[in-house]
Parts: sequence; C-alpha cells; structure tokens
Amino acid sequence: MAMPWTDDKGVDRRDPPAVWIRPLAPVDVAQLVAWDRDPAVARLMGRRFDDVDSAQRWLSAMGPRRGRLAFAIMEGGILRGDVELEHIVWRRGEAELRICLGDPGVWGRGLGTAAMQQVLTSAFGPLRLRRVYLRVAVDNARAVHLYEKCGFVKCGRLASTGRLREFRPVWLMEVSAAAYGAAVGVPSAAAAGAGSTTAE
Ligand SMILES: CC(C)(COP(=O)(O)OP(=O)(O)OC[C@H]1O[C@@H](n2cnc3c(N)ncnc32)[C@H](O)[C@@H]1OP(=O)(O)O)[C@@H](O)C(=O)NCCC(=O)NCCS
Repeated sequence: MAMPWTDDKGVDRRDPPAVWIRPLAPVDVAQLVAWDRDPAVARLMGRRFDDVDSAQRWLSAMGPRRGRLAFAIMEGGILRGDVELEHIVWRRGEAELRICLGDPGVWGRGLGTAAMQQVLTSAFGPLRLRRVYLRVAVDNARAVHLYEKCGFVKCGRLASTGRLREFRPVWLMEVSAAAYGAAVGVPSAAAAGAGSTTAE
C-alpha cells in the first residue's frame, strides 16, 4: 500500500523542505553550543565550544576580511544547523567548508543537500570562489555520499588533527566550480568556474 506521501507508483511526492541559509547571528549561538554537547554530533564533528562566551567570540571573528563566513541553515523559521566557509583565500579563490545539522532527528531528510547546494551556489557564484575543500571522517558515510553528490572528490587521506584528533582518519575532499556545476546540472555555476582567472 502506498504511504501517504507517495503516489500510486510509490514515487515520493513530499514537498522538498523549504531550506534557506542566512548569515549566522548572535541569537543562534546558544543553540549551537547546546548541539555541540550532543555526543552523537560530537562523535562526527568534535567539540567546538567551551561555553556560550567562546562561541560568541568565534562568531564575532567571522567576516569576509577575516576569510570566514558563517551561515545558519533554516527550515522555515527554525534553525537546523550551520555551515561555514573558512580559511578563505580570496586571491586563490578557495575555502574550506564545514556543515552540521545539530539535531540528529533531522538527518536524512534532504536538509543537508539543500543547504550544501545553496552555500556552494553562493561560493561559486557571487563569492567567485573556484575551489572548495573539506575534511570528513572516513566512516561518515552519509556525509561522504552527500559531498560526492555535490561533485566533491577524495583527494587525500589524512590523520585527524585539531578538534578531530581523537577520531579516525579523514578524507580531504574538494570540488571545483565546474565540477559542482556538472554535478547539480547548473551550467552557470560551471561557467563561473571555467571563465574565472587566477588572481595570484
Ligand atoms: C552530513 C549532513 C550535513 C547531511 O545532511 P542530511 O540532511 O542528513 O543529508 P541528506 O538527507 O540531504 O542526504 C543524505 C544522503 O546520504 C544518503 N545516506 C544516508 N545514510 C547513508 C549511509 N549510511 N551511507 C551512504 N549514504 C547514506 C542518503 O540516502 C542521501 O542520499 P540521496 O539523496 O542520494 O538519497 C548531516 O547529516 C549532518 O550534519 N550530520 C552530522 C554532522 C556531520 O556529519 N557533518 C559533516 C562532517 S564533515
């Protein structure tokens, strides 16, 4: 029997989640700290914050001139997670990406896919980046699948360091503007990468 959200051929007809990203704000920080304390999240991400004050300092150190941009992932009016572009080197057009949906109860519903597409469309569009890279634990299969769906490829296997140092090894993955455009079928994103020149 068809489930309520499938049609008579079993095709999923649920509306895609209304996901959008906006700049992360001080009002979001307490929720990030609460999520940070969840062992299920910490197992995948490591711990980021000692307390709300340290998280506020982290947020106040964001900004394009500092090469760090932080976005809230919103589903309707509800904060679901955060995504950052960090270590941005504008002249080389590259940045490191990090994403986290804070409540394990919302994982696997397509929010991460939608948020990644929005942040990468912005990265390779208005922000004019040419390469985005990230590190992900080798056994984080859901995240690796999502990144590959967005055009990321594995380009190295590293010992974990920093806040992930107690964890297993990580993949270094990267995507170019052209590869992202090809992966999501957005020619303009591919064109943005193909047409840009190196500013070094
Ligand atoms: C990783 C994360 C951003 C993904 O977002 P999400 O909303 O859960 O993922 P989505 O529902 O958009 O997509 C998940 C995809 O992985 C697939 N998937 C789920 N579990 C999987 C598994 N164990 N192995 C392989 N693929 C899996 C899903 O089928 C889906 O692919 P599809 O769209 O091709 O069917 C989110 O789960 C999260 O924040 N997790 C905790 C923190 C984390 O791991 N961050 C990344 C650290 S680098």
